[in-house]
Amino acid sequence: MTDPAVLVTGAASGVGRATVMLWTSRGVAVAATDRDEDGLRSLAEEAKTLRGRLYTLSGDVTSEPEVERIFTEASEELGTIMRVVASGGIEVNAAAHELSAADWEHVLQANLTGTFLTCKVAVKAMVDAHVGGSIVCLSSPAAFVGLAGGGNAAYAASMGGVSALVRSLAVDYAGYGIRVNAVVPGAAETPLLLSGVPEPDRESSHDDLVERAVREVPLGRLAKPVEIAQAVAWLLSDRASYVTGSHLVCDGGLLAKSASTF
Ligand SMILES: NC(=O)c1ccc[n+]([C@@H]2O[C@H](COP(=O)([O-])OP(=O)(O)OC[C@H]3O[C@@H](n4cnc5c(N)ncnc54)[C@H](O)[C@@H]3O)[C@@H](O)[C@H]2O)c1
Repeated sequence: MTDPAVLVTGAASGVGRATVMLWTSRGVAVAATDRDEDGLRSLAEEAKTLRGRLYTLSGDVTSEPEVERIFTEASEELGTIMRVVASGGIEVNAAAHELSAADWEHVLQANLTGTFLTCKVAVKAMVDAHVGGSIVCLSSPAAFVGLAGGGNAAYAASMGGVSALVRSLAVDYAGYGIRVNAVVPGAAETPLLLSGVPEPDRESSHDDLVERAVREVPLGRLAKPVEIAQAVAWLLSDRASYVTGSHLVCDGGLLAKSASTF
């Protein structure tokens, strides 16, 4: 039996992009959406020799009409979408007393509202079509602990919201055969990690990040995006058929470690 089509948000970069590459390389049809049209074009170029069909759609996950259009167009092309990965997101780092209300709102919109709208439209389509499905969202260690690096007020609040949303949806839609789970990446080597750093400083900041990972992450390195995509793929698939409302921590041991030495 062929795997059902997968829809991925945030598909132009990082975890979303690695997820698209993984499924298309397995011969599965994928609808890839992002607001970054250049990134989608380069993704299509990169994936063109892979077995699975790739259908790219640009759009902003913070807009309900756009998310509805994305799902309508994707299902017209690929059939009812029964597998969804919500990986669109941003990071803005600032201590709360220096964080503008506009930046707070922007992060909550992109990470929490964007994930909510993706899940809302996805489950509605599944319920209307009387099919079950599987949704995987992206959360973060910042949803569970105060990261010592600091400046995570908005990002952590958005990720905590995603984790609560996942549990709530899992309970509400289990009766419809829809599973909803989250993957919790630690520090994965994607553009998001350096998104707040001005372009000229990115190389040195990247070196600094790699050094910090050696020191702070029990596995001693950053994650490759494909390592996160593999965790996403397992939760998304029928191999995780009895898993819902769950968080799969894929962080090299970061959350397991206490900074305290006594
Ligand atoms: N990289 C990490 O270390 C890490 C750690 C924990 C959690 N996460 C989470 O994983 C998810 C993916 O992160 P990533 O590292 O792949 O980031 P990334 O920056 O590489 O990719 C995110 C993608 O989302 C897209 N996007 C952002 N806002 C959007 C919007 N409003 N509409 C449509 N597309 C939008 C961007 O254009 C980008 O292509 C995020 O939710 C992030 O918070 C990442």
